[in-house]
Amino acid sequence: MEDYILEMREITKVFPGVKALDNVNLKVKRGEVHCLCGENGAGKSTLMKVLSGVYGYGTYSGDILYNGEVQKFKGIADSEQKGIAIIYQELALIPELSVYENIYFGHEIMKGKTIDWNETIVQASEMLKKVKLDVDPSTKIKNLGVGKQQLVEIAKALSKNVKLLILDEPTSSLNEDDSENLLKLIKELRDQGVTCIMISHKLKEVIAIADSITVLRDGSTICTMDCHEQEVKESDIIKNMVGREIDNIYPTREKKAPGKVVFDIKDWTVEDPVKGREILHNVCMNIREGEIVGLQGLMGAGRTELALSIFGNTPKYKIKSGELTFDGKKSRFKTPKQAIKSGLAYVSEDRKGNGLVLIQDIKYNTTLANLERITNGLFVNNNEEIKQAKYYKDSINIKAPSVEQKVGNLSGGNQQKVQLAKWMFARPKVLILDEPTRGIDVGAKYEIYTLMNKLVEEGMSIIMISSELPEVLGMSDRLYVMSEGTITGELSREEATEQKVMALAIKSKED
Ligand SMILES: Nc1ncnc2c1ncn2[C@@H]1O[C@H](COP(=O)(O)OP(=O)(O)OP(=O)(O)O)[C@@H](O)[C@H]1O
Ligand SMILES: [Mg+2]
Repeated sequence: MEDYILEMREITKVFPGVKALDNVNLKVKRGEVHCLCGENGAGKSTLMKVLSGVYGYGTYSGDILYNGEVQKFKGIADSEQKGIAIIYQELALIPELSVYENIYFGHEIMKGKTIDWNETIVQASEMLKKVKLDVDPSTKIKNLGVGKQQLVEIAKALSKNVKLLILDEPTSSLNEDDSENLLKLIKELRDQGVTCIMISHKLKEVIAIADSITVLRDGSTICTMDCHEQEVKESDIIKNMVGREIDNIYPTREKKAPGKVVFDIKDWTVEDPVKGREILHNVCMNIREGEIVGLQGLMGAGRTELALSIFGNTPKYKIKSGELTFDGKKSRFKTPKQAIKSGLAYVSEDRKGNGLVLIQDIKYNTTLANLERITNGLFVNNNEEIKQAKYYKDSINIKAPSVEQKVGNLSGGNQQKVQLAKWMFARPKVLILDEPTRGIDVGAKYEIYTLMNKLVEEGMSIIMISSELPEVLGMSDRLYVMSEGTITGELSREEATEQKVMALAIKSKED
């Protein structure tokens, strides 16, 4: 007989106006990597929060069997005590504290009545070794990149003697190298007997790592596939996720002759004033009306820095030289506010600090950046606000009972969609999208691409930064490739291939 570490039976969880989980069943074998897939809002994170006791016993119906016994976790401490650890979609480390303080935060090592810091550091170093993270344990979390922070989270889980590790989209904000390392580590942990449940929208990595895959749709279990019994392909997962086949991932756009240049930078050289180091060197690029221009490069190539320095994010970036022409006028934006006012918008890759007001509803957030569009005289036209918010909610399929739902109650991917809606509604002349589809499910990506196409057809210009090369190739009319803070090449849609882009992305400026 199979040995199941976990069985969740007929789990139902209701929020006001939303049935997030509807009789969900999940069975996880001991020692396997079990992936959970499903569209944004399907209920994946909620199911894991039920399991870990974030939503405690009594707030859901159904049974959780762990090691064959029914569990009634009241809070996360109860599940942790049994060896279950969860790493959330958004990282939850404390930036100002050190690595070792974070690892033992909440379960400190005591000597009598005081914390035994020496032992803490010794133990923390052991945990760091296990996750192969080579940093000084006294380093502050804020000084580590997301990839390393993710490893600290795992070290923290290991320090609690984890038997069942839950990872909610662990690689969504990692670059390829960091993702690969993380997946390798998960496999190693599995070989040491740690069972792992992983949620991911990156189906390639799901295929690469999963022993079993369960698909949720609209709060129900659709199926569980055993990857050792059958060969599971990406298309199998997609079909179960969305209930139909998707063959065309990138919607076609009618090719029009590009309009006039709306945005142009020349010799853009930027310094990091704190480190006194040049981070961008003589960057030249432009974008025309009605064009989607991709900005490609490896992590750290300078794409986000370029976007932020254009967007007026001084004092973080000191512009040493360069000329920016926007809509026919020479400009230099001192603050993001000024940039937005002139018609330039930047949608950041950062999920947490993404400028959404979580305690406010969808309609408020959608119209926030361009209230003028819905104001008559001094007052916000409420009907118009609702109408506009509904349009975006429908066109990119934001999953919520109404536009009056608080954004903080939406699933991660749906929050990302609201943030996109907000800037699309703002109708800037030039919209910079930094990782727009991060954490977005395959079906919804298509809807976002379609909306992007529509906006450029109306004359907007979009600069798209993305670590997913196929997406940039599929959507851009033209693309620039960056490496080490310079543009190493420009390719037309026709010329661009993965090989050519990669060759330019690893070109160093000395070459
Ligand atoms: N606190 C809450 N209040 C109200 N509704 C909620 C709350 N948390 C989640 N929901 C709703 O429950 C449903 C499931 O959300 P959940 O976060 O589990 O989705 P998910 O599958 O993790 O999606 P994603 O891929 O976008 O992260 C969604 O419709 C969401 O809006
Ligand atoms: Mg989620």
